Parts: sequence; structure tokens; C-alpha cells
Amino acid sequence: MAVVMNVFLHFLCFSASLYSVTGLNSDGKTLLSMLKHWTVTPLSIKFSWNAAHSSPCSWAGVKCDNRIDAQFVVALNLSSFDISGWLGPEIANLKHLKSIDLSYNRLFGSIPPELGNCTLLEDLDLSDNNLTGGIPQSIGNLHNLQSLTLGQNSLGGTIPPSIWNSTSIEYLCLNLNHLVGSLPRSLENLEELVYLDVSNNLLEGNLPSVLGNCKKMDTFVFSENLFSGNLPSVFGNIPPELGGCKSLVELRLYENQLEGEIPVELGKLSDLEDLYLFTNRLTGKIPTSIWKIPGLRNVLLYQNHFSGELPEEITEMKLLRYLLLYSNKFSGVIPQGLGINSSLEIVDVSDNQFTGNLPPDLCFGNQLRVLYLGLNNIQGSIPPGVWRCSSLKRLILKQNQLTDDGITMESLLLGFVCGLILGLLTASLMFYTHKPRWFHEIIEVLEICVSSRKQKKN
Ligand SMILES: *[C@@H]1O[C@H](CO)[C@@H](O)[C@H](O)[C@H]1NC(C)=O
Ligand SMILES: *[C@@H]1O[C@H](CO)[C@@H](O)[C@H](O)[C@H]1NC(C)=O
Ligand SMILES: *[C@@H]1O[C@H](CO)[C@@H](O)[C@H](O)[C@H]1NC(C)=O
Ligand SMILES: *[C@@H]1O[C@H](CO)[C@@H](O)[C@H](O)[C@H]1NC(C)=O
Ligand SMILES: *[C@@H]1O[C@H](CO)[C@@H](O)[C@H](O)[C@H]1NC(C)=O
Repeated sequence: MAVVMNVFLHFLCFSASLYSVTGLNSDGKTLLSMLKHWTVTPLSIKFSWNAAHSSPCSWAGVKCDNRIDAQFVVALNLSSFDISGWLGPEIANLKHLKSIDLSYNRLFGSIPPELGNCTLLEDLDLSDNNLTGGIPQSIGNLHNLQSLTLGQNSLGGTIPPSIWNSTSIEYLCLNLNHLVGSLPRSLENLEELVYLDVSNNLLEGNLPSVLGNCKKMDTFVFSENLFSGNLPSVFGNIPPELGGCKSLVELRLYENQLEGEIPVELGKLSDLEDLYLFTNRLTGKIPTSIWKIPGLRNVLLYQNHFSGELPEEITEMKLLRYLLLYSNKFSGVIPQGLGINSSLEIVDVSDNQFTGNLPPDLCFGNQLRVLYLGLNNIQGSIPPGVWRCSSLKRLILKQNQLTDDGITMESLLLGFVCGLILGLLTASLMFYTHKPRWFHEIIEVLEICVSSRKQKKN
């Protein structure tokens, strides 16, 4: 019976475009005609897209504007339907579409340029497919477009300049493709832009210095591209104009080839929570204005050439969670108030030139999970607030000038921790039931033991 039903449905589907099916309106016929390009049609579509209906309004993934008697399709949401196949040009016949969401399928081939005919489109999401070819120029005809999401495909070529004419775009996401070329000055046309993500492409050139009226932008992701600059200036290649993007909450410019200093103007980003500038070639001191942004939570500046000391202002950043500064040339004493009245979770300042004592209150909020201090010149003993930190799972102290006077290093790290490892060798069961969370950290812990034993020998 199921087989007969299936054959019957197939007959209906595939005959729909050949023979006019009495009753079914034109949008319904268009939808059925799209099926012929699909190699895998999900069951929910097979069973609900019924050519005997008069309109497609009850079909899976289809939404009509029911106020209009003609029952036009206004939204098509087949996200995660497991469709495999090609997106045919027929879709452009659905002239009343305002929203298309075909994300998370296995669509391949290129984006039909005919989509530019769906001029009422406000929302187009083709992300997470296997689309190739370029972004059609005709997308620029979609003057009502508010959200364009083409991320996680294999799209190539340049971003067509016409896109920058779709001035109503608020959300533009082109990440994880193979797009080349640079971002043009005309980006400034997109005054409504709230979210821009062009990360993980092959884009190059300067970061556009004219970000126009980016007053509404809250997220800016330009990471993992080939952005680099050729105009040397004191501000380097992070354009100071970015400081005008007042609503920015996330700024992600990591893994590029950015040079120069962080512009002081970035300190004007008073809503900023995430500052990800890691793995670039940035130099100089971090402007104090940055450390004064009250809501900053995650500061990831590792693998650059930053220098200078951390200012006292850092101790006022009560919302700071992640502070990752490793592999730079920071120097001086880490401000001793760091961590007081806050809840740091990950602190990695390893591979710098820090001196002085360890701040005693890094674990104040009992959230500290990772503390990496290796490869510095930190002196003195490990403060009780650190060795008593019960949330701590990973600790690297190697290659510093830490002394293990008194009970600290000796009895807690060598005694307690290394004792546990010895315990593991002789009675592994006990270990498992005792402190299993250390299991994954053995390597790190061994590093502590080995480096402190070496110190003892010398
Ligand atoms: C499409 O449906 C999915 C799953 O129900 C939902 O998460 C998504 O927001 C919808 N897309 C649109 C544009 O409404
Ligand atoms: C769709 O747009 C193309 C150009 O992109 C045009 O040639 C064609 O006539 C349009 N089709 C319809 C059905 O409007
Ligand atoms: C995407 O397409 C490429 C080339 O056609 C193919 O090699 C790859 O396996 C496809 N990936 C998926 C996830 O289907
Ligand atoms: C963008 O719009 C301007 C003015 O409306 C027009 O002159 C220009 O040709 C358009 N650019 C593209 C690439 O469509
Ligand atoms: C920490 O909080 C307490 C109580 O709110 C306050 O008295 C103290 O001044 C704060 N210390 C710092 C360094 O912010």
C-alpha cells in the first residue's frame, strides 16, 4: 500500500509541471516543479505537498498570506528538511515570497540569479548547504532585504558590489565560503547594518576605513581572512572609525594580518563585551581606554606583539571572564587587585615578560578554571587564594621564578597533586573515585611537578 501511495504521489508530483492539475493554484504548481531537481525529497514533503489540493497553504514548510483570497506563498521554510538537490530557477515564480529559509540542507549547484526577481524578499537564508559558484549580482535587486545569510557554503568569487545597494540589510552573514576580493567603501551605504560576518573567507585588502553610519551595528566579525594593510600609520590597520560603531557588542578581527596599534577610539565602544583581536601582528600598548570599557567580558589578544604593562584600571573590570594575553611582550607586575570582586574563569598570560608577585585574588569568585602563567618572570610564592581555588582544573606555572617556601608549592602541588598521580599508578580505582576531574589534567599537573623538581635540583 505504501509503495502504491508513493508511486501515486510521485506521479502527482512529477506530472504537475507537465499537466495542469485542476484546482492547484500557480504557487502550488511552482513548488511542485521545484521537486524535480531534488534527489532526496523528505517524507514530510512527499506526504503533504499534494497536487490535489487547491492551494499549497497547508503544505509542510509553506506559509501563505491567508488574507488574500489567491493564497500566495509568502514564506518557505524548509530548514533542516534533509533536502538534497539543486535549487531551481522556478522559485522566482513565487513572486510574493518575503522569506526563504532553506538552511541546513544539502543543496548544491549555484544560487539561481532569478532569485533577484523575488523583490519582496526580506529574509533569505541559504546557509549550511553545499552551494557553489558566485553570489548573483541580482541579489542587489532585493531592496527590501533585511537579512541575507549565505554562510557555510562553498561560494566563490567576489561579493557583488550590488549587495551594498541593498540598503535595508540589517543582518549580513557570508562566513565560511571562499569569497575573494576586498570589502568596498560602499559598505557605508548599509546604514541599517546590525550584524556583519564575513569571517573565514579569502578576503584581503584594508579593513574598510569608512564604516559609515555603523551606529546600529552590534556584531562585527572579520576574522580568519587575509586582511592586511599597506598604508602604515600610527593606528595601524584597525580603522579608528570603528570607534564610531557605538552599539558594537562583539568585535572579532582575529586571525588576520592586522598591524599597528589598537586605536584609542575603540575605547568609545561602551557596549563592547567581546574583543577578539588574537593572532595578528598588532603592536604597542593597549590603550587605557580599552580597559575602562565597563562591560568588557572577554578580552582575547593573544599571539600579537603587544607590549607595556597592564594598568590598574584592569582591576575595575568586574565583569571580566576570559583574559587571554599569551604570547605577547607584556611586562611589569600584574596589578595585584586583579580578580577582586569579580569572577574570572580563564586567565592565560603565559609567554610574556611579567614580573612581580602573583595577584592573590584571581580566584575570588570561585569560577577560575584555567590559570596559565608559564614562561614569565613571576616571583614569590603561590598565594593561598590560588592554591585553595577549588574550581581550578588546569594550572601551569612552569618557567617562572616562583619559590616553594613554606607549605605552598611543596605540600600542595608536589605533595597533594603529585601524590594523586602516584596514587593512580598504584591504585587507579581510588583515583577515579577520588578526584576524577584531575584525570584530564595529568599532563598539565606533571608539567608542574617536573618543573618544580628541576628547580629543586638546581
Ligand atoms: C524555520 O524553521 C526553523 C525550525 O522550525 C526555525 O528555527 C527558523 O527560525 C525558521 N526560519 C524562519 C526564517 O522563520
Ligand atoms: C527573472 O529575472 C531574469 C533576470 O535575472 C529575467 O530575465 C526574467 O525575465 C525574470 N523572470 C521572471 C519570471 O520574471
Ligand atoms: C560538497 O560538494 C563538493 C564538490 O561538489 C563535494 O566534494 C563535497 O563532498 C560536498 N560536501 C557535502 C557535505 O555534501
Ligand atoms: C547602486 O546604486 C546606485 C545609485 O542608485 C547606482 O548608480 C549603482 O549603479 C548601483 N550599483 C550597483 C552595483 O548596482
Ligand atoms: C569589593 O567590594 C566590596 C564590597 O562591595 C567593597 O567594599 C570593596 O571596595 C571592593 N573592592 C574593590 C577592589 O573593588
